[in-house]
Amino acid sequence: MLIKNKSGIEIPSSEITPKHIYLNRRTFMKGAAVVTAAGLVAACRPAPPEGHPAAVATQAAQEAAVNIDPTTGAVATATPRVDELGDPWTPYRDVTNYNNYYEFTTDKNDVAKLAQDFQTSPWQVTVGGMVKNPGVYDIDDLRTKFDQEERVYRLRCVEAWSMVIPWMGFPLRKLLEEIEPTSEAKYVRFETLNDPEQMPGLRSPWYSWPYVEGLRIDEAMNDLAILATGLYGEALLPQNGAPVRLVVPWKYGFKSIKSIVKIDLVAEQPTSLWMDAASNEYGFYANVNPNVNHPRWSQANERRIGEIGRRDTLMFNGYEEQVAYLYEGMDLRANF
Ligand code: MTE
Repeated sequence: MLIKNKSGIEIPSSEITPKHIYLNRRTFMKGAAVVTAAGLVAACRPAPPEGHPAAVATQAAQEAAVNIDPTTGAVATATPRVDELGDPWTPYRDVTNYNNYYEFTTDKNDVAKLAQDFQTSPWQVTVGGMVKNPGVYDIDDLRTKFDQEERVYRLRCVEAWSMVIPWMGFPLRKLLEEIEPTSEAKYVRFETLNDPEQMPGLRSPWYSWPYVEGLRIDEAMNDLAILATGLYGEALLPQNGAPVRLVVPWKYGFKSIKSIVKIDLVAEQPTSLWMDAASNEYGFYANVNPNVNHPRWSQANERRIGEIGRRDTLMFNGYEEQVAYLYEGMDLRANF
């Protein structure tokens, strides 16, 4: 995130390093079953042997967003896959190599490399606070207990770049319904793993770790808010927040907190890491809004990764119909 930290030092952003393959949803489901059985997550990705037709087709598919059959390698469609607005999915290699994950580094190019050995299994998420049914969920419980569905969402970073990403996951609402917040609970607070042994970026003194984010309960109950466990039909890679992350597509990307270990229902509005770092620049709501600029740059338009030129930013990132009711009567300039 292009942010002046507490010392006033500007942190640089970076470029894209292409790499990698992707598989389809069927492979994800198969892969997830193998993963569950083996007690492994990201390390266990089915891949055809070199020279196998599927391997050759996978290589071709890397360059163009097309469906391939993982067993035969047949190209199912040559038409690039698109979101509901007709915008193509951002290539897998960009989604998995252009990342913000400050616990590893502030350099988007280097997150994938630095996070490659990040241990995502075993993994547990502790869910509690003001709830009737607190609990500790193993990542495999989250995968099997809640039906995993595909959601193709635009991700709009506060830095004014964006992607279209096919996530796999389940509505956060389903988890909240199970744990039953009490009437005093007003917000959901999320926390990322805080392990300096594995996450070199945590040595940075400029942020108050762990990474924390929050949502109002009614926002969290909106069907668009999901806990994601995969993308492009494949289990999440560490750089994208494995093994489980939040995705709230109508808000700037920083709300979509990665590698969650704790979810608490609380009465007071949580202070996020970014609010703490620069409260004049990053508010609690962080709704995508082309009419309210960041103090240091315009939010009116954005650079879609993989495209030349810029495109207009849409109110609530194009999800106005689904989420505008949440903010009726609110001053969105004051509640930025
Ligand atoms: N979550 C944690 N724990 N740490 C981070 O640095 N960066 C946020 C968000 N979630 C971040 C995080 C920002 S600024 C963005 S834009 C998105 O993750 C980027 O997600 P991606 O790398 O999967 O595209």
